[in-house]
Amino acid sequence: MRQPLIAGNWKMNGTRASAEALLSGVVAGASTISKTEIVVCPPFPFLSLGERLLSGASVKLGAQNVCTKDVGAYTGEVSAAMLAEFGCCYVICGHSERREYYGETDAIIAEKLTACASQGMIPILCVGETLQQREQGLTEDVIAGQLDGVISQIGIDAFHQAEIAYEPVWAIGTGMTATPEQAQDVHAFIRQRIAERSQTIAEKIRILYGGSMKAANARDLLSQADIDGGLIGGASLVAADFLAICQAG
Ligand code: 13P
Repeated sequence: MRQPLIAGNWKMNGTRASAEALLSGVVAGASTISKTEIVVCPPFPFLSLGERLLSGASVKLGAQNVCTKDVGAYTGEVSAAMLAEFGCCYVICGHSERREYYGETDAIIAEKLTACASQGMIPILCVGETLQQREQGLTEDVIAGQLDGVISQIGIDAFHQAEIAYEPVWAIGTGMTATPEQAQDVHAFIRQRIAERSQTIAEKIRILYGGSMKAANARDLLSQADIDGGLIGGASLVAADFLAICQAG
């Protein structure tokens, strides 16, 4: 059985004080939740705070991005080794905001997965269609393209140590959640695509749903056969809301 994974993507939010309070609140509440793996992904400047406050707790630390390069003259970038040194276990790769605002292509995202692997961190590969693509009936084509674009570069074996997040762009930060059935259909499609290359990986890889997931809809989404967790944006910024989703896992 796949253990549910709930990851909080804080995006570019918070202050030192609010990050400290949120981390402490999540740690305190998480001590009574054992069935779900819980990850928080704060902005880079708060990772060291995260490493300190999560030490000895069951909550794991993740990052929201990583550089494709190992070291050197790449102003403004953060390497996989740096993230690993500060205790990151997971890295969100290819979030739709990175694809849209920072020009991340499938080839760049594939390199990021390789960078994570080089440091023993687990990438969470994000895929998802826009509203226009969904309305044009292109959802599966888009998802298949995003998956194949990475797999063709680095091979399916890289997915032995990876998770996938299905995040329909139209559901992110909009309050418009995919219905459990809509999400399940795409999750099943993703798992099938993986299974065509490796049945073993398809059975063990966790496929998270992201997009306006909150306590009120988490249970219905997480009860679907191929929804193994969530990647939570807005609702991960309030400890009680995030923990309620973790409880539903
Ligand atoms: P929201 O939960 O705010 O819709 O964000 C989802 C997301 O983008 C997580 O990566």
